[in-house]
Parts: sequence; structure tokens; C-alpha cells
Amino acid sequence: MTSPEVTAFFDEATNTISYVVRDPEGDACAVIDSVLDFDYASGRTDTRSADAIIAFVRKRDLRVEWLLESHVHADHLSAAPYIQLAVGGKIGIGDHIKIVQDTFGRVFNEGAEFQRDGSQFDLLFSGGDSFQIGQLRGDVLHTPGHTPACLTYVIGDAAFVGDTLFMPDFGTARCDFPGGSSGTLYDSIQKILTLPDETRIFVGHDYKAPGRNTYAWETTVGEQKATNIHVGAGASRDDFVTMRDARDASLAMPRLIIPSLQVNMRAGQMPAPDDKGDVFLKVPVNKL
Ligand SMILES: [Fe+2]
Repeated sequence: MTSPEVTAFFDEATNTISYVVRDPEGDACAVIDSVLDFDYASGRTDTRSADAIIAFVRKRDLRVEWLLESHVHADHLSAAPYIQLAVGGKIGIGDHIKIVQDTFGRVFNEGAEFQRDGSQFDLLFSGGDSFQIGQLRGDVLHTPGHTPACLTYVIGDAAFVGDTLFMPDFGTARCDFPGGSSGTLYDSIQKILTLPDETRIFVGHDYKAPGRNTYAWETTVGEQKATNIHVGAGASRDDFVTMRDARDASLAMPRLIIPSLQVNMRAGQMPAPDDKGDVFLKVPVNKL
């Protein structure tokens, strides 16, 4: 089994981990779940996090083949179009994006100019699809539950699980966003846990965990099966659903959910500027 070189970039403002995944036999790579920094109070974007990835890619003379999104994130803005402009690559996401666009197209009262067919992305993946990063093969697992369009990218001996599983001591992702389902997430996680025990798992977020003082993002299928506090040691579907739903009822909305959804459902593009060239995001009142 080929073992890709994986470099992680941690964004402390949103607890997001972005990854550069490289074919060890060549110069091809993919960027997974990049971050465009956004200061909500001032409405200003910043490209610090994305520039770090671009600098890394350029310094090593890598060829970016893919800009992969595990899903439409609700807690950070994607920098995929910004990185694409600088170093290329095709932007990919799951084909269930159409459901997500339909849901949030309504929430944000988008007009007919907002296409809900996923056409803002370069490629829509279905579960079971495969793709190449140079000589490296990637396989796509559809792993809904956190959102309807969530994907896990299995690349060589590494699985990029987005927001399905977190580190074993933190558990799993919330399932209370529109279209989320804790039972569905449990079923998706079982799919991931059928990968070989030694498969490296790279998670999309880390928030530390009680008793752990450092951030962490790499674990294995074997560790998840044995010790994940929500789904490990044979936890039942019923127990998981009860626990997950109760916990989700107590969680506040992510700080950047309103700007994130509007940008990420457009493949990381801002809404079209007005006739003066100014760009605006909406705040739906009492909708989320
Ligand atoms: Fe997420």
C-alpha cells in the first residue's frame, strides 16, 4: 500500500486542519480543506493560512492536481479558489452538494442566479469513485451524517475523514445542521472502520480534549475502533444516537457559520459583487 506524504496545517482560529497530500514517487499533490481567514467583526478576509500552503507547494515544486473539500464547512471559509488561482488544481466535493445548495439557497434566500447543481465546482465525486494524484490512487467514500455531502478521501494508506470522526478522545462531529443525522453518521463511521486497522486517519478538526494539552490530528482505524469515546469498543447505534442528539442540543452555532455557508456552497467564491463592485454577505434573522 502506498503511503502518501502528509503535511498538516493547523488553523487555531477555527481549529481546522488542512492537508497537503503528496505522491511519494513524484511531484503531484492534493490540498484538502484549505482555510481562508475571516474576521467576522470587520468583515475582512485574510490569506495568511492559504499563503502558507502556497509557499509550501512552491518551495517543493509540487504540482497541485486537486483541491478537495470533505464537505461544505460551517466553521471556516474555503480558500480553494484563491489557491487554485496561484498554483492550479481542480476543486472537488461530493455530488450531494446539490442537496446542501438547495437547503442553504433557501436559508439565504438566494435568487435564481445561485445555481444548485454543483456547477461551481470542477468535479463532483460520488461514493465509489476513484481519482489519481500522480501515481497515487484516491478512493471516495460517501460518509454523510454530519452533512449530506460529506466525503472521506482514502488515499493510499491514509483516510481524510473530514468531520466524521475526531481524535479518539474527542469522539465525533455534530449532526444537528440541516440535513444532518446521527444515525446516518454512525453508519458512515462503520464504513470507515472497515478499512484496515493500520490505516492512518487524519481528522478535519481538533479541539484538544479533557486532559490533553496539545492539538492532535493523526490516529488510526485500529485506535478509533478500540478507544473512540463515542463509537469505539463496540458502542451501539442506539446509544450513539441518544448521546449525539443530547450533546448536539447543547452546542452553540459555530462562530463563522453564516459567512462560511454562503461562501462554501459557492465552492469558496464570494457572492457576485453589486454594480459598484462591492461584495455583501447576508445574515438571516432567526433562521438557523
Ligand atoms: Fe464541518
